[in-house]
Amino acid sequence: MEKRILITTPIYYVNDKPHIGHAYTTLAADVLTRFFRAQKKEVFFLTGTDEHGAKIAETAKALRITPKELCDKNSELFKEAWKNLNIKYDYFIRTTDKRHEEAVKKFVERLKEKGAIYEKEYAGLYCTGCEKFLTEKELTDGLCPDHKTKPEKVSEKNYFFKLRDYLKEVENLIKNNKLKIGPENAKKETLGLFKQSLDDFSISRQKVAWGIDLPFDKNQTVYVWVDALLNYYTGDGSKKFERYWEKGQVIHLLAKDILKFHAIYWPAMLLAADKKLPSKEFIHGFFTINGQKMSKTLGNIIDPNDLVDKFGVEATRYLLLSQFPFGQDGDVQENRFIEKYNADLANGLGNLVARVLTLATKFKINPPAGGQKLKVSDKNIKNKVSETQKNCEKDMEGFKLYEVLEEVWKLIGFCDGYIEQEKPWKNPKPEKAINNLLYCISEIANLITPFLPETSEKIKNQIKSQKTGILFPRI
Ligand code: MSP
Repeated sequence: MEKRILITTPIYYVNDKPHIGHAYTTLAADVLTRFFRAQKKEVFFLTGTDEHGAKIAETAKALRITPKELCDKNSELFKEAWKNLNIKYDYFIRTTDKRHEEAVKKFVERLKEKGAIYEKEYAGLYCTGCEKFLTEKELTDGLCPDHKTKPEKVSEKNYFFKLRDYLKEVENLIKNNKLKIGPENAKKETLGLFKQSLDDFSISRQKVAWGIDLPFDKNQTVYVWVDALLNYYTGDGSKKFERYWEKGQVIHLLAKDILKFHAIYWPAMLLAADKKLPSKEFIHGFFTINGQKMSKTLGNIIDPNDLVDKFGVEATRYLLLSQFPFGQDGDVQENRFIEKYNADLANGLGNLVARVLTLATKFKINPPAGGQKLKVSDKNIKNKVSETQKNCEKDMEGFKLYEVLEEVWKLIGFCDGYIEQEKPWKNPKPEKAINNLLYCISEIANLITPFLPETSEKIKNQIKSQKTGILFPRI
């Protein structure tokens, strides 16, 4: 893997505040960033907000504020939520940044110069919720299946991007893994899309009040998706960022709701402009809440800040990523949060660390002075730990975040078993067993670092100072 990595999340719409769906992707990007950094890779983590388009303009109108006021207010809510989750991005892009707007204009000019754009009268059904045209076939009882609203009949002159000219090339790049789409089922789904009728798409709309003017026709506005996808390329506008794009490995994280835009439209746009393509797109699962799609109407939207208030930041990070395998769809069951918190964090990790440190203090077993490595004398333990480390590293490289946590928690279970088996409190010479256990919890602390950075630090400090403290109080 290249030394330089650019990790991105989708940029989120600011028509509403963040929910745990947005938090899930952003958190995963944060964990991967921390992991790659620990491997001495240079990582740039980019996230941000998607602020133009009819959807934002309409929400602002309904709230009787200007679109700019809505964007300023809600983009702050995203930043605040990420801060509360201890998510450390390198740059937060807002598509209303002047610099981004200018870069978008330049890019569409380039597409025009390259002959990839043409003008056409178009009539179609536009769903503002999706910010895209839908075909009759995609509707359910005449309504958008996602937003349950009737799309608007639009008939207008637009500029179109010659997608069809690039389809074969994009398909081949994906087939040959030059553009990696993972996991395997997402790659299959993407390749399936090429078998359907994929058509040229409009890169402009007829004067949407809130958007970027098309540089070569002031009566048109850049289509919000073209504007949004370009965030990955414009980044923070620095030379340093450019080097990440040109020389590094570019990884996009997203869910399947926006697969077509990312896996087909985006690479085609880049090919047309003669730009480097991303290296990898990882499509994680789309989850439901208690069996239902998250929606305002159903009132089942979970605010990540509420989880942080209830469980604390570290536990929220754990609870979100330990729901189901990262690449698969799943159901988040709210009532399982408490159960899982108590089982895995209070009784699992927290209890193990407390037991080991209580034993170490009781029998005055101090860790080696001067920060030297803890000693392990039991071969079984040594093997178990190194096997866990290897599996975790492999899983992490494959973005299997859930499996990494599973591996670590298996090791926690193994240590509990070792305590029961050894019963150090009954042993006249308990040093060996306690040292082995201290070694285990310090390695566990290392393994959880990207997920639970503060807990990891606390465990290391507790080992050093031989002071126990409750990591996760029972709820
Ligand atoms: N603004 C566009 C993206 C433009 S990127 C160039 C958009 N925004 S969004 O606010 O709707 O966010 C969509 C993304 O949020 C998903 O792709 C996913 O990363 C995350 N999720 C939103 N709901 C989710 C679930 N229920 N489950 C998993 N991820 C979810 O689309």
